[in-house]
Amino acid sequence: CKVAVLISGSGTNLQALIDAATGDQAEFSVCAVISNRPDAYGLTRATEAGIPASVVNHREYPDRDSFDRALIEEIDSHSPDLVVLAGFMRILTPEFVRHYSGRLLNIHPSLLPKYQGLHTHQRALDAGDREHGVTVHFVTEELDGGPAIAQAVVPVEAGDTPELLAKRVQAQEHMIYPLAVTWFAQGRVRMLEDRSELDGALL
Ligand code: GRF
Repeated sequence: CKVAVLISGSGTNLQALIDAATGDQAEFSVCAVISNRPDAYGLTRATEAGIPASVVNHREYPDRDSFDRALIEEIDSHSPDLVVLAGFMRILTPEFVRHYSGRLLNIHPSLLPKYQGLHTHQRALDAGDREHGVTVHFVTEELDGGPAIAQAVVPVEAGDTPELLAKRVQAQEHMIYPLAVTWFAQGRVRMLEDRSELDGALL
């Protein structure tokens, strides 16, 4: 299974995917890394791993539609089976989402459907939640709204700051994203209309 990874920043999730893809038993390979920001550190991670890295800079396009069309063109030139958003900080057009329907994944740092959007760690703290976490889900036209594939839960500890909580969540991100991609590569998980199915069971 060939996986294209889209990033905007440091790319620690990308690194977890690269590491999982280099093992003997790996079920997938990372065939391309594409960033909308030329300064994203994840590009360096890709190059060091010998993976083609490219930039489609959103600032060079007059609107979202033309940016997304350029992005589709770049992604499709690598013919991936799966497209993975890993800290990719652009909202995608319905046209883009439809183009990759059922083969587009995102990771979101909250227990969806709680806290769609930004500042999830602060919002969990503000709400006094005792548990927080992360979700891998199929991407649909609803922002952070598509069917979930995997979640990991972490405790919220007394004295937590958003940064401490983010660290705890990120350690889980780095485990469940490679896991979810492996399930997809094995053909065990798929998107039905508005649900995910894993090993034949509805999630
Ligand atoms: C992660 O926390 C992810 O959940 C969110 O953006 C962050 C990306 O981090 N969508 P990194 O670039 O993978 O280090």
